[in-house]
Amino acid sequence: MRIDILTVLPQLLESPFAASIMKRAQDKGHVEIHVHNIRDYSTDKHKNVDDYQYGGGAGMVMSIEPIAALIDKLNAERSYDEVIYMTPDGKVLEQNDCNQISLLENIMILCGHYKGVDDRIRQHYITKEISIGSYVLSGGELAAAVVVDAVVRLIPGVLNDETSALTDSFQDNLLSPPVFTRPPEFNGWKVPDVLLSGNQKEIDRWREEQAYQRTKERRPDLLEE
Ligand code: ADE
Repeated sequence: MRIDILTVLPQLLESPFAASIMKRAQDKGHVEIHVHNIRDYSTDKHKNVDDYQYGGGAGMVMSIEPIAALIDKLNAERSYDEVIYMTPDGKVLEQNDCNQISLLENIMILCGHYKGVDDRIRQHYITKEISIGSYVLSGGELAAAVVVDAVVRLIPGVLNDETSALTDSFQDNLLSPPVFTRPPEFNGWKVPDVLLSGNQKEIDRWREEQAYQRTKERRPDLLEE
């Protein structure tokens, strides 16, 4: 998979992909992540990437020209399955969206800033608009990093034990059951006996039951879907 991220603040996207699973996924060739600075495509003599909004009002708008120039250049190099715009008024991201995106070959992700982009970018270039939740961030970069992380870990071969993505919370619309490790007792707090029993059938049954109970208590909406 190839991911091109378009941003006015590339430095915000340096560390999220430089360690742990995201770094290994790139090193092993499962994903290529390219971060592009929109400012490099500004033809303005001050390298501006934003302007006042038509109709007046506070807040700057990301200009159409540098973004269009960058998207046109990338589109000429290869074909993209989705051109995603990170915005608080997009569709709220869920596990199923990540599953679908993880099957794609090439995607672009445009990070919004200020009041957002000139709407003509959204009308003519963007194929998918994603929000990571009902709150407003200073820009789309952290949101883009969330999408990339959630998607890349699903690419086959990225996680060491492939079943661990399949048993994540939200796959099957269930939250994960609680987990424990050694010691079996700490401060008098004991690990549930069943997990130490060695009876795999009983353990599986207990985990299913716990997952269902947790989901019922914390996210009953998932059970209704
Ligand atoms: N940009 C600012 N806030 C955002 C959010 N909640 N999701 C995606 N992009 C954003």
